[in-house]
Amino acid sequence: MGLASLRFRLLVLVMVAVLPSIGLLLAAAREGERRAEVALRGDAERLAQLVSEDQKRSVESAEGLLTGVSRMAALAHPIDPVRCQRTLADIRAQIPGFNNLSLVDEGGNVMCAATPFSSPISIAHRAHFRNAIGSGAFAAGEYLLAQINSRPSYYFAAPVFGPDRRLQGVVTAGLDLGAMQRRLEGHALPAEAVAVVTDATGRVLARQPAPVRAGERFESPLLAAMLRGASGLTRQRDGDGVERLYAHRPVRGPGDRPVMFVAVGLPTELARAQVRGIFLHTMAGFGGVALLAIAVALAMGERLLAAPLDRIIGAARRLSGGDLSARTGLSRRRGEIGELAATFDEMASSLEADAAARRRLEEQFRHAQKMEALGQLAGGVAHDFNNLLTAILSFGRFVRADLGEGHPSRPDVEEILASAERAATLTRQLLAFSRRQVLEPRVLDLGESVRGVEKMLRRLIGEDVQLETRIAPGTGPVLADPGHVEQVILNLALNARDAMPGGGRLILEVAEVPAGAPERGGDPELPPGPLVRLTLTDTGVGMDEATLPRIFEPFFTTKPAGKGTGLGLSTVYGIVVQSGGAIRVRSAPGQGSTFTVYLPRAPEHAAAAAAPAGTARRGRGGTETVLLVEDDASVRALARRALAQAGYQVLEASRPSEARALVRRGAAPLHLLLTDVILPETNGPALARELLELRPGLRVLYTSGYTAGHLAGDDVTASGHAFLPKPFTPELLVERVREVLDGPPPAQRTQLHPLAGPIS
Ligand SMILES: Nc1ncnc2c1ncn2[C@@H]1O[C@H](COP(=O)(O)OP(=O)(O)OP(=O)(O)O)[C@@H](O)[C@H]1O
Ligand SMILES: [Mg+2]
Repeated sequence: MGLASLRFRLLVLVMVAVLPSIGLLLAAAREGERRAEVALRGDAERLAQLVSEDQKRSVESAEGLLTGVSRMAALAHPIDPVRCQRTLADIRAQIPGFNNLSLVDEGGNVMCAATPFSSPISIAHRAHFRNAIGSGAFAAGEYLLAQINSRPSYYFAAPVFGPDRRLQGVVTAGLDLGAMQRRLEGHALPAEAVAVVTDATGRVLARQPAPVRAGERFESPLLAAMLRGASGLTRQRDGDGVERLYAHRPVRGPGDRPVMFVAVGLPTELARAQVRGIFLHTMAGFGGVALLAIAVALAMGERLLAAPLDRIIGAARRLSGGDLSARTGLSRRRGEIGELAATFDEMASSLEADAAARRRLEEQFRHAQKMEALGQLAGGVAHDFNNLLTAILSFGRFVRADLGEGHPSRPDVEEILASAERAATLTRQLLAFSRRQVLEPRVLDLGESVRGVEKMLRRLIGEDVQLETRIAPGTGPVLADPGHVEQVILNLALNARDAMPGGGRLILEVAEVPAGAPERGGDPELPPGPLVRLTLTDTGVGMDEATLPRIFEPFFTTKPAGKGTGLGLSTVYGIVVQSGGAIRVRSAPGQGSTFTVYLPRAPEHAAAAAAPAGTARRGRGGTETVLLVEDDASVRALARRALAQAGYQVLEASRPSEARALVRRGAAPLHLLLTDVILPETNGPALARELLELRPGLRVLYTSGYTAGHLAGDDVTASGHAFLPKPFTPELLVERVREVLDGPPPAQRTQLHPLAGPIS
């Protein structure tokens, strides 16, 4: 737990809240101690007063007694010793606490006493005698052991005056210290308390606890103050190690003279212990409550603050470490922490969504790049092969025609032609994939296209597969080549069939997708604006993640050798993209597959402008003059031959300059220009424009291994002229030439193909 940690700060906060209470408690304890001290003083003073009043009663009774006896003594003169002794003994018996009463002459000789004695006794040296003679008044003496009976006593004396007011002697009374001790012990004192009564010299008369030795001195620092006759309070540590608070005061006799001194000491511990007990008790209780409060505060802090913050910090660390799936899981909490957690989770979610979208885009981009590169490659190969195949097929056919039926080499030539046909099919598919084939787009209803192939499809997919078509009413038209659209449907349906060897369901749907429809899912590659979609869903084996990204690659197939070429989907891809659309696939192993083709919805009015394709008149030749411009010698040769065989006059040129020269020179009528699009010096369309200036009625037919859209800056089909893709067969060439010659002149053709532009 670091000093800066939340837990430490919480602890400090709780302590700060608790500390003032501890301070208050301490102050209360101090106050309690002060009050206990005051109470202790009061107790000590009260006890001292009690004890001193008790002693004072003894002194007063001694005074009263001695005053009475002295008067009697003064009257009874001279003294009868026997009567005197009996009288004193009687008096002593009446008054408890006194152990002797005596009559003493002015010389200090005891004349008679309550206790009889045999040998003469002098008390001339005793303090009570000397004090009484000296002052002529009642006086106390000091601790002594009585000469008559050896008992510890405290004697008082009072003077006896004769009728002439002359001092005749004193009467004395001895207070029995044993009785005094018992009376003192009668005061219930607390444990360890001390009560002392001393004479004027500091010798102990009575003491609680009882004195160790009779007549010992009260050895205490407070003795001096005590004997000075002052009342007061003194705190001191005694010989037994106990600190006591002493209250001391004199016991005054007649004339206010101090005759005894009293001190009562109470152990200071008594009061403090009481207060400390209460304090400790309170402190323990408070400590318990405080600890509980700290524990609860820490636990609540842990649950409500520290733990959630730890989770938020943990999630933030994971997020900054690159784990975009990190969440606090606290967003449902209320209050600031919940808000913080929710904000964090939202931020993490949007980061994750952004990252996923970026990954998807990158993936799509990489895929598009790959397809583009593959397309370039396939297109290039197909283009070169087309020239070769055009030559092989054409010359092969010439040879076949020359050989006639029944020639032994005829089957070989047939074999060559069949292989070349297959090769031509392959290159056509490759061209389709590389989007370089000639499309003849027309406004068409996709639903119609589906209905058109439905019957054939049922035959193709077999009885085990159930076919279902759902065509949404009111679906708008698209602009596409009908033959190629059929090709797309067929290829997709055949794949579906192959994916359901044990039968299943194939659903074909056609529906319109409005511009803002959610199903477009922010896919940036879908063309903007309204779309029409064609969806094929099968219940087949589906595809795994390794297969999915590769299915559009040419020659990618999972089918056994000889079963599939891997060009089916490549063709579909090429056609769809070349038609301005997009294709999307959703599939998982065992879950079937869904292929969706999106095509831009064509504007409604386009439908009216669409023209039906002209029907070709097969195999009809002619006698018109054709100018053939082709740089590839073999293609040129076969075209010349095919046209010548069909009866046409053929003028040949291998380059534009030759063609120009021929036209300028020749006076003969010229009906058709058959030109390759890509030529040395200038391109086909440029040449055509030039020659049209010279021969305005001239028909034009382009040929190329590339699609019209890919050719030269100016659009070949948009120019309104016809186009014949390579490779072509002699029959196809002758057929197309006838078609162009029979068709409307160039200006009118342009009118008929206003929509050819979008292919490019
Ligand atoms: N509906 C489908 N269900 C499961 N896999 C499919 C589906 N459509 C295509 N595939 C997978 O995509 C691969 C490529 O398909 P594509 O049509 O391009 O070639 P092919 O069908 O293998 O061969 P070809 O079409 O030339 O006969 C297939 O081999 C198959 O693995
Ligand atoms: Mg296929």
